[in-house]
Amino acid sequence: MAKVSVQFTLNGAEKAEFIDSGTTLLHALRDKIGDTSPKGGCHQGTCGACSVIIDGELRLSCLTLAETCSGAAITTTSGLSEGGVLHPLQRAFLDAFATQCGFCTPGMIMAAKVLLDHTPNPSRDEVVEALSGNICRCTGYEPIIQAVLTAARSNSQNAARGESKKMELRKSYFADQRKDDLHEIGQPRPRSDSPGHVTGKTAYFADRNFPGMLHLKMVRSPHHHARILSIDISEAEKHPGVVKILTAKDVPHNVYTILILIQIGPEDETVLADGKVRWKGEAVVAVLAETERAAQEAAAKVKVDYEVLPAVFDMEEALKPGAPIVNEYHGRNYYLYDSGECRKVRFGDVEAGFASADHVLEQTYQSSPIEHAPTETTGCIVAPEGNDRFTCYTNTQAMFFTLDNASIILQMPGNRLHFVGGTVGGGFGGKVDVIVEPIAILGAKLTGRPVSFIYSRAEEMQISSPRAAEKVVIKDGVMKDGRIVARKVTGYTDAGAYSRHSPYGAQKGAGHYPGPYTIPNVWIDTYCVYTNRTPSSAMRGFGVTIGDFALEVQMDKLARLIGMDPLEFRFINAYRDGDMKAHRQPTEGAALIECMQEASRAANWPVAEKFMAMSSYAKGA
Ligand code: FES
Ligand code: FES
Repeated sequence: MAKVSVQFTLNGAEKAEFIDSGTTLLHALRDKIGDTSPKGGCHQGTCGACSVIIDGELRLSCLTLAETCSGAAITTTSGLSEGGVLHPLQRAFLDAFATQCGFCTPGMIMAAKVLLDHTPNPSRDEVVEALSGNICRCTGYEPIIQAVLTAARSNSQNAARGESKKMELRKSYFADQRKDDLHEIGQPRPRSDSPGHVTGKTAYFADRNFPGMLHLKMVRSPHHHARILSIDISEAEKHPGVVKILTAKDVPHNVYTILILIQIGPEDETVLADGKVRWKGEAVVAVLAETERAAQEAAAKVKVDYEVLPAVFDMEEALKPGAPIVNEYHGRNYYLYDSGECRKVRFGDVEAGFASADHVLEQTYQSSPIEHAPTETTGCIVAPEGNDRFTCYTNTQAMFFTLDNASIILQMPGNRLHFVGGTVGGGFGGKVDVIVEPIAILGAKLTGRPVSFIYSRAEEMQISSPRAAEKVVIKDGVMKDGRIVARKVTGYTDAGAYSRHSPYGAQKGAGHYPGPYTIPNVWIDTYCVYTNRTPSSAMRGFGVTIGDFALEVQMDKLARLIGMDPLEFRFINAYRDGDMKAHRQPTEGAALIECMQEASRAANWPVAEKFMAMSSYAKGA
């Protein structure tokens, strides 16, 4: 590739570089010059994380060729503070809690700076419009909008600081249950990582760059279910820049272990597909090359011959006799718990409860898979350290889990693996699967060179495990006076083709389905079902969140059925300290009643005085 010279000023300093023609400004800034404050969230112009200012205008550095910037004045967030004093925008973002993982923050601040440079006193609508090209997955946009408005109102650091909100700590609750010497709770304290986020100095795993680093790209299954008849890598091996190609036979222990480490999950998934693929996107062959582009092009030259097999995508279809078997490890399309084909909770006599009820209501609730969509995609960079030791820089949310799993897969003692975590650019549970690290370490071991394996935006959205699709059937028996006397729930969790964390999620659901309510007769069955869909896994409260949605919609429907106020209906059934839960744990530290009392006041939703006088823990109240 032809080299071109490029000269520009970056944050006031002269820069001159020789770069490959076609290099993006984002790549040049991060990997050539070492300014890692612009981030690569999508590399396709949709997230705004790479935003910089070129000659006073906001530009996406991932879509800008570096060679077109000769003679330009470029500003990045790392150049905004002067002499250690934060720019008013940086100060305002910090004080308004407008940054969480921080991955979007440098780009947001760039967009805000261009707005304030052109429009010093913007309206709220103008702020919203100016930030509309920048995506934040974590923080919520309101604190960001408020930070920009605050910075606009003042150029002074101190005035910007004055906008911090105080939280109110209501000390009347549980006064006899705690020490009343709280100093930190209720006080606005800046996050310790915020200064790094607003200055662009926070180091994410991909901010590291090693000489001679290889790039790993996967050949993935185009089919939902197929037998692999042959794999031909001969053409791919000849592609310029290719250094190594890995197939299943290269992986020492070609099995993901995940939850086996805590005696829950089975060993039912391969690192690289061996003989069969069970979902569209499954990793089959790993290609390591000098550049990302060479790895991508070579991956397209790998020839895999498939025999397509019947697939099943619906949980109830998968459970029917004669359905295609998704995963031979199980021999059936559901996870076998020690309690049988499902997790079970049995409490009281549910049929007697239904027989005695004034009304019975059965409803079905369903959800689709939900992608975590972190702004920073999943990935790791591995550097060989000599003596057969490897340092893995990763954005995993499960550091020791990952170390232990990598050690088993690579059949390598854990003391040869040094894992370095740090700030994760948004995880939400999606970065707890051990997917990228073992194969990247193997690549580094077999080539003796650093290896980068980072999901593209398309891979993050299509390949990374989502929250499971769920189906919940709830049948409740309720009395005219508002008491729920029986609840029967059948829950289905769609694990996709492999277990990952789903058996654990379905198990959590079984314990959770009574909700925060005291019900004397309960029957719960939860199934973890295998289909030919993308394997699902952890996501914020997985196994519980969809169930909560279903339960609370059901509560509203029950209240409507008996003509009762929905909040008062919940007061009647709310569990209180000492109540026995269906899974036979006595209730301790309940606070639902107090929360509902506060919600009633805050929402101006009056309930009868007797409910406002109730207590979760005081006997008789
Ligand atoms: S818009 Fe450039 S990385 Fe997303
Ligand atoms: S703080 Fe905006 S994406 Fe995480």
